Amino acid sequence: MTDQINWQRVREQAETWIREAGKMIKDTINSPINVETKSSPDDLVTNKDREVEQFLIKKIRDQYPDHHIVSEEGFGDEVKALSGVLWLLDPIDGTMNFVHQHRHFAISIGIYENGVGRVGLIYDVMADDLYHAVKGQGAFLNEHRMPKLNEGALETAVFGINATWINTNRRIDPEIMRPVVRKTRGTRSYGSAAIEIAYVASGLMDAYFTMRLKPWDYGAGLVLLEEVGGIVSHADGSPLELLAGGSVLVGKPGVHREIVEMIQEGLKSGKFLNEGPLKS
Ligand code: IPD
Ligand code: CA
Ligand code: CA
Repeated sequence: MTDQINWQRVREQAETWIREAGKMIKDTINSPINVETKSSPDDLVTNKDREVEQFLIKKIRDQYPDHHIVSEEGFGDEVKALSGVLWLLDPIDGTMNFVHQHRHFAISIGIYENGVGRVGLIYDVMADDLYHAVKGQGAFLNEHRMPKLNEGALETAVFGINATWINTNRRIDPEIMRPVVRKTRGTRSYGSAAIEIAYVASGLMDAYFTMRLKPWDYGAGLVLLEEVGGIVSHADGSPLELLAGGSVLVGKPGVHREIVEMIQEGLKSGKFLNEGPLKS
């Protein structure tokens, strides 16, 4: 039975673990790290990613042996369905920032019950900022409640987007996003999807867009957004399936709508968008 879970208590427990994991990283931030590449030279993993993932998974398994875990570095479970309680873990989101800059990376934990987001925590380790939410109880940055997001307009929006998506790439026609970028007040790119989604939830940015995220990148962020009235979809406005991944567009009401409309106009005029796996 999962209907008697006290989610606030689960959040508190997860907060203890995420802070402990953050301390493990911080205490050794200047020690040598072992960096490997995965699918491409820009897809990095370090011994710290693995260490933090294993640490969090041990805590979860000891406390909640019947919960399922989906995590980036492969120490979790093979999960195909959303039934029961599911933890989505990214031990270090923004590994490139961790390796090159020693800042602007986060630990992200999203907890779902039968597909419903219950708890989200994003810990920006070096800033010591914890973004957190429990469904129905509001979203917070540390002890401060985040206000609901107001309706916004693209021409006054700060838009989170990586330059990849306005340059030649195989996932989205750069001619779709260029006019969007032109219409905004300005763009930002921080190199950690979890932090960027948290920035939208907390009002520091008005929208964030990327073409390839995984459940552990956005699991926590979606819980925060739900609490403040942020809108979430794929690039073309279609709904996100939690375990599927793909393109992600999050934003304030109004800003999100304008971006979807512009993307749809691009698609109608024959420009390409590739959601699925790319053929090599
Ligand atoms: C990455 C970061 C990055 C985003 C990538 C993610 P990682 O996560 O969130 O900002 O653009 O798509 O894979 O590999 O650092 O956990
Ligand atoms: Ca990530
Ligand atoms: Ca990661």
